[in-house]
Amino acid sequence: MPHKIFKALVVQQTADNRFISSVLDKSVEELPPGEVLIRVLYSSLNYKDALSASGNRGVTKKYPHTPGIDASGIVEECISKDFLPGDKVIVTGYDLGMNTPGGFGRYIRVPSEWVVRLPENLSLRESMSYGTAGFTAALSILKLREQNITPEQGEILVTGATGGVGCIAVSILSTSGFEVVAESGKKDQKQFLLDLGAKAVLDREEASDPSGKPLLKPRWAGAVDTVGGDILATAIKSTKYGGVLTCCGNVASPELHTTVFPFILRGISLIGIDSANCPMPLRLKVWQKISGEWKIEHLDRLATEISLDELSKQIHLMLQGEQKGRVIVNLQ
Ligand SMILES: NC(=O)c1ccc[n+]([C@@H]2O[C@H](COP(=O)([O-])OP(=O)(O)OC[C@H]3O[C@@H](n4cnc5c(N)ncnc54)[C@H](OP(=O)(O)O)[C@@H]3O)[C@@H](O)[C@H]2O)c1
Repeated sequence: MPHKIFKALVVQQTADNRFISSVLDKSVEELPPGEVLIRVLYSSLNYKDALSASGNRGVTKKYPHTPGIDASGIVEECISKDFLPGDKVIVTGYDLGMNTPGGFGRYIRVPSEWVVRLPENLSLRESMSYGTAGFTAALSILKLREQNITPEQGEILVTGATGGVGCIAVSILSTSGFEVVAESGKKDQKQFLLDLGAKAVLDREEASDPSGKPLLKPRWAGAVDTVGGDILATAIKSTKYGGVLTCCGNVASPELHTTVFPFILRGISLIGIDSANCPMPLRLKVWQKISGEWKIEHLDRLATEISLDELSKQIHLMLQGEQKGRVIVNLQ
């Protein structure tokens, strides 16, 4: 397929050190080597993409660059036996969209070890309603379940609840019978969170304890934290005996000031979550849960579809912490 030209969002660094995004023509020949060439039909917007698009060197080292850590589409060529042209597939994480041109372009070329066959019972579009954010929410919940956290044990806190990871965590947990308390800084989105199945909504200010006490009244059986910082530190202090928290993000802060007391007096656990390099057997298990027993009925309520041209505006919103729900990018 020589010289095949396709549209992609390209982030460029300007002479005065700004990062600007525009939709440009790219050629398939410019893509890196890899076994599988995929025609991308859908991508989705994640916080890491917003960082890549704004010049964060911890995410992307070289510009010009096409972000997009998620892609779903159709295999066009595969030089290994793993996939055939026409196969429907998903790629999330690994190096996609970081230093490998990502899903904000109509073609990607990647190693076959990164590629997941689209599960039955999930469309390409639905897979991107979840994307990395949904995958991370599901992985977090799987970790809680593996530690025997069940609905009978009490309330689960989800922080950054209107965000991508948060809103899918609220939805899966409530679908699975848990009582979810959703923490959010968006006072006008209470009804959105209750509609997703949250039992109650906690304001951001209430979720951060300024007292300096090492332990607070025990409340949570578990937590899915997406923000880090004082909100996670407060959740740790407020977790009941034997409770489990997962931690995946740092939009509030990468710092975590805590003492050992919640761990050694209440036997609580804090589990770190990484979706990018999640091993393939676990990855397949998570997608199976997402497309099976945890499938969310109200996906359309939490996802907005946009085109490549509309991405820059959404990236800006995300960097301001103002994004709500999931953003699907339609590349067709
Ligand atoms: N470890 C992994 O594998 C992995 C995978 C995916 C994402 N992540 C990380 O998880 C985090 C969330 O990702 P996302 O895709 O859900 O992002 P997102 O859609 O932008 O959601 C983040 C949410 O956090 C809340 N928030 C924003 N700024 C805040 C602040 N200063 N203090 C407290 N809360 C704040 C907001 O929700 P409210 O307004 O409702 O409070 C916001 O919508 C990011 O740090 C991301 O990098 C990690």
